[in-house]
Amino acid sequence: MNYIFNKGKEDKPVFLLLHGTGGDENSLLALAEIIDPEASVLSVRGNILEHGMPRFFRRLAEGVFDMEDLAFRTKELYEFIGEKAAEYGFDRQNIIAIGYSNGANIAANLLFEYENALKGAVLHHPMVPNHEATVAKQDGTHVFIVAGVNDPICPQQEAIDLERYLTDAGANVTLEWESNGHQLTMNEVQKAKAWYERTF
Ligand code: MLT
Repeated sequence: MNYIFNKGKEDKPVFLLLHGTGGDENSLLALAEIIDPEASVLSVRGNILEHGMPRFFRRLAEGVFDMEDLAFRTKELYEFIGEKAAEYGFDRQNIIAIGYSNGANIAANLLFEYENALKGAVLHHPMVPNHEATVAKQDGTHVFIVAGVNDPICPQQEAIDLERYLTDAGANVTLEWESNGHQLTMNEVQKAKAWYERTF
């Protein structure tokens, strides 16, 4: 996988940055810098190309995921994180994902599939990645979801259902709304920063 790793302060978490459709490993670097400039960063580019646009897993149509590919790519990403933790010597238990849209969806699926994948996650405009899943135990995982009330790609109910799935699995979930559509706004980045500062 294409990626960027920037080492931060030893006692700080590693931000796993996961871009939206059409983004790449550079897209969310500025956002990580706003949330905590001292954190390490592992920013990954999705391995799928949809009409030239990088993504983290295939979809059959807007909002309709290729579930086989989602499972394969989630495992691939999980193993990739483990390899990079060994290579760069960071703590596998100290990772906070920051994902937008398609990147938020694969971050959510990491939580659905693996008990210890992430210490926390900031999910900008996510959907429920898999309605059939038995969600892995998430006791002690902190999740911040921010969704748009007029988001045509990720309807409100998706964020509400995702909150419920993760809460039922034991995660500590905060859900916030933006009076906006699907776009990632500076206002929500500031909300994520405030949540990060009071949580970690
Ligand atoms: C997805 O495919 O993950 C969602 O529809 C969000 C998007 O990337 O447009």
